Amino acid sequence: MVNPTQTAAWQDLVSYAQADQRPRLRDLFEASPERADQLTVAVGDLTVDFSKQLVTAEIISSLLALAENVGVGDQIAALLAGAPLNTTEARPALHTALRAPRHETIMVNNRDVVADVHAMRDRMVAFAHEVRNGQRTGATGRPFTQVINLGIGGSDLGPAMAYEALAGYRQPGLRCCFVSNVDAADLDDALSGADPETTLFIVSSKSFSTSETLTNAETARRWLTRHLGEQATSRHMVAISANSERTREFGIEPDNRFDVWDWVGGRYSLDSAIGLSLMLALGPDGFGEFLDGFRLVDEHFAQTPLSENVPVLMGLISLWNRSFLDFPTRAVLPYSHALRRFPAYLQQLEMESNGKQVRADGDPVDYPTAPVIWGEPGTNGQHSFHQLLHQGTTTVPCDFIAFARATPTPTLDQLGDPGVHQELLVANCFAQAEALAFGRTAAEVAQDGAEPELVNHRTFPGNRPSTVIMARQLTPSTLGQLIALYEHQVVVQAMVWGINPFDQWGVELGKQLATGIVDELRRDQPTGSQHDSSTNKLIAHFRSER
Ligand code: F6P
Repeated sequence: MVNPTQTAAWQDLVSYAQADQRPRLRDLFEASPERADQLTVAVGDLTVDFSKQLVTAEIISSLLALAENVGVGDQIAALLAGAPLNTTEARPALHTALRAPRHETIMVNNRDVVADVHAMRDRMVAFAHEVRNGQRTGATGRPFTQVINLGIGGSDLGPAMAYEALAGYRQPGLRCCFVSNVDAADLDDALSGADPETTLFIVSSKSFSTSETLTNAETARRWLTRHLGEQATSRHMVAISANSERTREFGIEPDNRFDVWDWVGGRYSLDSAIGLSLMLALGPDGFGEFLDGFRLVDEHFAQTPLSENVPVLMGLISLWNRSFLDFPTRAVLPYSHALRRFPAYLQQLEMESNGKQVRADGDPVDYPTAPVIWGEPGTNGQHSFHQLLHQGTTTVPCDFIAFARATPTPTLDQLGDPGVHQELLVANCFAQAEALAFGRTAAEVAQDGAEPELVNHRTFPGNRPSTVIMARQLTPSTLGQLIALYEHQVVVQAMVWGINPFDQWGVELGKQLATGIVDELRRDQPTGSQHDSSTNKLIAHFRSER
């Protein structure tokens, strides 16, 4: 495989990134009044403004040459066709098949996976109707009013994020909550006030071996049986898993299991049955609109030349910031309360995918890979960490996300125009991007009448890059589009770096060590720990404090 650093384009980019060559946003905007027009692109309902990124036409063409040199176009085609790009696990990564139309065919091991996806979707739809119309009830015959999803990582973050994001599109009568942490307080919160007779648990675990989820599921089952008797599990618990054997051993019958396939990675699985809680909340039609949004971006990703391909451009610019300009983190700042869980969702998507130190062939990389992703919704962040974004010693590229129209707010809508909030919200978003890009020079500060001893304190260096993503309104479709955009830009970066974004070996060691340590914490008598002195002492301390 091609080592990207061996390409001429990589070397050009290294030279463009030298301190004395780096673009200055003030100069770029002054030199080209059309800059915003030239660097604003659209995909579906999303408008993406890259003009405040530290890029020039030469840098973009070198990034595109780099993508060509490492065969990004062919890699995209291979990904979408189901080639086994997850090489360490010898599997395809076919999350795009989850939103493929019924008539499409994608063969994996002589099986049409699109047909499997739609057969499973039909079962989900039937289940959602039965739960919603009261045909499927709890053990005492009462309809369900509460759904508790038990899952973690990709089996939690996606549905939990989208459930909050699409609050304005939920159908009434059914509330969902999401329990992920093995800390008993998480499940306790969900169960306090819940009525066992009307509560449905969805145990979401692709592997059905994740200790946090299984521990929560066992406790939930005890809660159910204590109130409703042994027979309650079959009425009140369903599973979403690829592991039929373990689900059955747990006591969930095949009819109550919804399949996920090994070709869907956990962090890419929201459109599979892992999204069942979301389908229950939105109804099958709303869920269908959500999938259509993904599909729109998938088609663009598949069919558009690299130079106009929005996820490709976004991935390449992110890679420029990380591997060449050496910015270690990236902030995702949705100016939307509904998207408050979006940064957490993206943390798994991007960092579990691209937090890798070896290339797919096992050779170590000699360039930085994934940045640390973090963020909070605006304007809240402005009153906490934006100080550092503007005047700190680290440059943090930012993704701003904003909507022209507010999400439905039923109570406020009765008071009149909620625009008063939306305008202030979005004005702040635009102002932050402007302030980061252009700052304020000492001369300007002095000219504004600042006291001389405060001039340096009130100076903003500017030249801090950001992208602004806008849509008219956050809807099921635009959320699907936004997620697909991020999914694809993650994968594009991996393609250039030559890493496998679909495995996650880095989570294994901690899991393995925890299995041993939990035994030591639970034992009646200490047995002489075999860890380092720090871990031994912590174990002893825990035991003495119990
Ligand atoms: O430990 C990491 C991980 O495997 C994630 O990749 C995954 O999303 C999460 O755990 C949950 O896994 P499962 O759905 O198998 O319980």
